[in-house]
Amino acid sequence: MQNTQKDILEFLNKRIGKSHLEKRLKMQREHAADVYNRGGITKFHPENLEPMMIALDILLKITFLKKHAVKNSLDIRIEKNDILSGRIPQKFHGFTILQLSDIHIDGYVDGGEKLCEIIRRLSYDLCVITGDFRYLTHGDYDRCVLLTKKLVRSISCRHGVVAILGNHDFIEIVPGIESEGVTFLINDNKRISREGQSIVLAGVDDSHMYGTDDLPKALSGISNHEFTILLAHSPSIYRKAASMKVDCCLSGHSHGGQVCLPGGIALMTNTNAPRKYIAGPWTYHNLKGYTSRGTGSSGLPARLFCPPEITLHRLLLFPV
Ligand SMILES: [Fe+2]
Repeated sequence: MQNTQKDILEFLNKRIGKSHLEKRLKMQREHAADVYNRGGITKFHPENLEPMMIALDILLKITFLKKHAVKNSLDIRIEKNDILSGRIPQKFHGFTILQLSDIHIDGYVDGGEKLCEIIRRLSYDLCVITGDFRYLTHGDYDRCVLLTKKLVRSISCRHGVVAILGNHDFIEIVPGIESEGVTFLINDNKRISREGQSIVLAGVDDSHMYGTDDLPKALSGISNHEFTILLAHSPSIYRKAASMKVDCCLSGHSHGGQVCLPGGIALMTNTNAPRKYIAGPWTYHNLKGYTSRGTGSSGLPARLFCPPEITLHRLLLFPV
């Protein structure tokens, strides 16, 4: 296990290469807490707009909704989604993937206890975590790593845990979380095998704030006949993913709006993707996608008309 900052950077240098690491670290140093930056796809970052969060907090208090909204942040729903495709290998028919996204674990008012308890009761074949482990986009990440390790110990499945980074995550969290058995895909891919057949999981680094995503690299070495699931923190990658023949894309990032109007109408989506891509299942040409509303909350540990979720995706070979 890597302990010192020097060890962490040496590990990452070998893992993702000097140029990617230098770009990521430079962006983190210079722009992690900026409201505007030009590094990623989206230039405006309301997640860093502290006065707006303070105003929202005041608004919830004066409308007597704060207590209710905080309680909602722990009302984690289990959503089920079927992914149908004629390209799914027969041995993966019925294969179940647990998706956690936008956990922001150090922001939970209960330290993530309820989430661990729910996960222990579920059964699934593989777990994917689609980014945003940390509550803030800057500052200390030790508590986030510590709580994530505890969470990972409550995950139990045959094919392990595969994760990507989000815009709230410093790349330095990778070695600590991987020491608990998680595999990060940082513009990389990995095959999951079952009884002689396989599917591919590909994952990109953050596109939203750091612009360090590299989809061609993440998909390199994958044959056309292989069923490929892309893990991308922001759904804004949908057009590129479809053009590169990805079968399925699992995302998060938008939180579904988090604090919404009745009917789940988001006041803000924090992505340039159209609204149909910000929550739940969607399709774009041959690409099937799903955007999680997020398992945790950011900015404020509060939700209105937009409960947090964990998602069980079932792969179904169709037509059989
Ligand atoms: Fe998030």
